[in-house]
Amino acid sequence: METKILQPNLETYTLAKSLLEQGKIVAFPTETVYGLGADATNPTAVEKIFLAKGRPNDNPLIVHLGDKRNIQKYVLRITPLEQKIIDAFMPGPISLVLPKNSLIPDCVTAKGPTVAIRIPENQVARDLINFCKKPICAPSANTSKRPSPTIAQHVFQDMNGKIPLIIDGGQTDVGIESTVVKVEKDQVFILRPGKIDKTLLENTLHCPVHENTKVGKIAQSPGMKYTHYKPNCDMILVKTDPIVTIPTLYQEYTKQGKNVIIFCKEEDLPYFSSFHAVSLGKDSKEASHNLFKMLREYEDHDLILAQFVDNGKMVEGLFNRMSRACSGHIV
Ligand code: TXA
Ligand code: MG
Repeated sequence: METKILQPNLETYTLAKSLLEQGKIVAFPTETVYGLGADATNPTAVEKIFLAKGRPNDNPLIVHLGDKRNIQKYVLRITPLEQKIIDAFMPGPISLVLPKNSLIPDCVTAKGPTVAIRIPENQVARDLINFCKKPICAPSANTSKRPSPTIAQHVFQDMNGKIPLIIDGGQTDVGIESTVVKVEKDQVFILRPGKIDKTLLENTLHCPVHENTKVGKIAQSPGMKYTHYKPNCDMILVKTDPIVTIPTLYQEYTKQGKNVIIFCKEEDLPYFSSFHAVSLGKDSKEASHNLFKMLREYEDHDLILAQFVDNGKMVEGLFNRMSRACSGHIV
């Protein structure tokens, strides 16, 4: 199958609509990462997503809608606190887990009784969904375990020959996936951290917000148990004493003949000037924007030594992605 990369315009949306109606997959940008979209009401189309990604079928998909007024069409109920989350944060980089109704097929939710709903803010995503007039289920557009794509070319790397169309909306803004939240007994549980964080949720909703916590006895987002975001090389995340630790590790591994690259905080670049080092960004928000793209760009090295960028917003979301990208190898 030929995989086309096309600019977002009326002709592209017309093609995308026809492909989705035929049960095919279309990749598109959102403000977080690129998604691999299918008509959420067509089980055969949904199966193709799992196949294209090599995704375990016990990991549910997020359903993307164009307008928050359409949410109630697909869920059994919305509590006042859930409505408050919808009103305050949608459209935006958040997915809210709600009890699904029968319009959402079981394969979308991995047979579970809930569905994660998201209203993207990105204009291309909104135009596509509104043009197609369908709920679009979409995981991140990477092969399972790989870093999520933040540019169309990275979708192409993973999906070339597997899907007919990638809509190119340039580099995504946020860079890490949406915050996944669930409400239980008037408390909010963050199942996956993202740009909308605990502080913002608490300040807006004025209720308890729990991070990385089980909801009752149920595990967090099923996706959290899998290896994820791994570049094709080793990676070590350096949290402790990076100015000393990174040069020490760099020299040790270089002596072993390894081709090492350092990812660091912009202001610390001068400390690593005699080594091969690049800036992840000036703060954790910028580092989140850059991380997945850089993991793919520098994975032709043997080892990435990444300094944890711990200043600014999105620290939790960034730590979650970086610690998983290095498979927990943190010093
Ligand atoms: O920003 C995003 O959320 C991107 C863009 C494309 O919208 N999508 C995305 O999808 O990251 P995916 O499939 O890569 O990650 C979805 C996460 C997984 O960890 C999954 O387990 C969790 O959301 N999830 C989906 N439905 C759920 C549900 N009903 N209950 C709990 N967790 C759920
Ligand atoms: Mg993903």
